[in-house]
Amino acid sequence: MAIGVFDSGVGGLTVHRTLVRRLPDADFIFLADQANVPYGGKTGEEIVDLTRQGCIRLFEEGASLVVLACNTAASIALRRLQQTWLPDYARELGRPVNILGLIVPTIEAATGLPWSHEVEHPAEKVETVDVIGVFSTPGTAASRVYEIEIDKRRQDVAVFSEACPTLARLIEHAAPREVLKQTIEGHVEALRRRIGRHPDRAILGCTHYEYVADLFAEALPPDTPLIHQPIAVADALERYLERHPQYDPGHGGTRRFLTTGEPGEQNALVAAFWGRPLRFEAA
Ligand code: DGL
Repeated sequence: MAIGVFDSGVGGLTVHRTLVRRLPDADFIFLADQANVPYGGKTGEEIVDLTRQGCIRLFEEGASLVVLACNTAASIALRRLQQTWLPDYARELGRPVNILGLIVPTIEAATGLPWSHEVEHPAEKVETVDVIGVFSTPGTAASRVYEIEIDKRRQDVAVFSEACPTLARLIEHAAPREVLKQTIEGHVEALRRRIGRHPDRAILGCTHYEYVADLFAEALPPDTPLIHQPIAVADALERYLERHPQYDPGHGGTRRFLTTGEPGEQNALVAAFWGRPLRFEAA
């Protein structure tokens, strides 16, 4: 058995790298749906459908768990798949399988509270002391998942999202650094204007953005804390595996990289991030 990691493209590799470092003996299969990237501007139905197909592919390859290393898929498709499709699918397959997202761990990291800590009857917002800015795809921003879930848990935090419609695609195609820098500066400035000041902390709410975390850090005021999803997800996965021994992560330390797009070497941003070129097989 193995752990599957899914994204529309190379963004999920930023999460995958942290997961394999944390669980070096586990077997990992990464699937990038590059035939359909970016997901950020697609309809909800399309995203649910593509995410289901990606999960099926990974379960067929032997994954017991699939980590959706994609905010867009996790915020739009995860609950729907878990509630309406996965139980029947697991029964047909005849073995335990599950899909995990990355929104819950990110919200736990942002609120400093366990997911179960939901305020039953949220009081009025107190005077806000902490403003979190979320940079994400239009799909994730439209789901308002970060606003809704953080709001349920912390009355002293305000969340503002900034949708970045072109950024994942630019990163997927390794756009020149200057183009990435200008795009990011534009979004940081747009968010500052909307809030009336810079956020106190920021969530890079698209896994592609982790490749350019340094450019976000430069565009934001010095020392603005960034909430890094890869670490939050690795912490959550480790805890999950301890509590759920029925999901076998494998023990051979193998790594496979599959794509629905063009097989071969991934772009220079990926190679720089991983410290070596990564070659993908056709899915
Ligand atoms: N990396 C993905 C995310 O975290 C998706 C980017 C896209 O396909 O638009 O949202």
